Amino acid sequence: MSDTLVDNQKSVPQRRPSQRTILMCRPDHFTVSYRINPWMHPETPTDTSLAVKQWETLYETYRGLGFDVQLIDPIEGLPDMVYAANGGFVLDNIAYGASFTFPERQPEGPAYMDWFRQHGYDVRVPKEVNEGEGDFLLVGDTILAGTGFRSDSDSHREVAEIFGRTVITLELVNPSFYHLDTAIAVLDPSPAPGEKANIAYLPSAFNEAGLAILRERYPDAILVTEEDAAVLGLNSYSDGYNIVIASRAKDFERQLRERGYNPIGVDLSELLLGGGGVKCCTLELRR
Ligand code: ARG
Repeated sequence: MSDTLVDNQKSVPQRRPSQRTILMCRPDHFTVSYRINPWMHPETPTDTSLAVKQWETLYETYRGLGFDVQLIDPIEGLPDMVYAANGGFVLDNIAYGASFTFPERQPEGPAYMDWFRQHGYDVRVPKEVNEGEGDFLLVGDTILAGTGFRSDSDSHREVAEIFGRTVITLELVNPSFYHLDTAIAVLDPSPAPGEKANIAYLPSAFNEAGLAILRERYPDAILVTEEDAAVLGLNSYSDGYNIVIASRAKDFERQLRERGYNPIGVDLSELLLGGGGVKCCTLELRR
């Protein structure tokens, strides 16, 4: 009947949500007491109860989407433990442990590995410095791997050996986007056979070599604005249809909607003081 409707149906693909299982850590001990990224200002006070409240909204949002949300107990004295994405990289029931760059976070590595062991994952103790899913993103069958600020490129080789997948090294060049998950968002975590997984990214976070790879592999990627990236808008979590994003990332929200996704804004302003957003608080568990 309506031509526009037919046109729209043709141009905007039908997105399908997929079931997700994730690990989170309540920010009961969250504060900013040291500075290991440019977002952190230990002299500025933080509000732990507000951080918990905002985190709970994220937790409830995920539960509302039907995700299986697992929890790891927070440990006093490890204020960054809320950023569960850094706790490891889990795929094919194998949990590759994290080995943190900075001493302040190093005890988190064994704590997360204990949790993985207790929950039946095949834990691989890392030989190389790496910060888990903060720098390893599964896109289709490929693992995009970040380096430059945190994970050592030797860990990319280790991941390739352990998981037997193609690992593509991308060098990050802007200290504000120090983990790959602050510069790239995975939009399609479980593409149907024959379907291509797409991403969104911030071009200025990469060097020329990385940009050439991204342009070639993801010609249809969403390129986000500097403004949206500056509120960690890319640090988002998708089930293939619903994408939980920073509520302040307004252009990204519009871009996602135009592509047929359903963006859901959540305000994590307090956790942004530690340099993390939605995705940082979320570790994907893949059996
Ligand atoms: N304060 C933490 C750090 O600098 C934030 C980690 C953010 N996590 C992430 N996956 N980007 O290590």
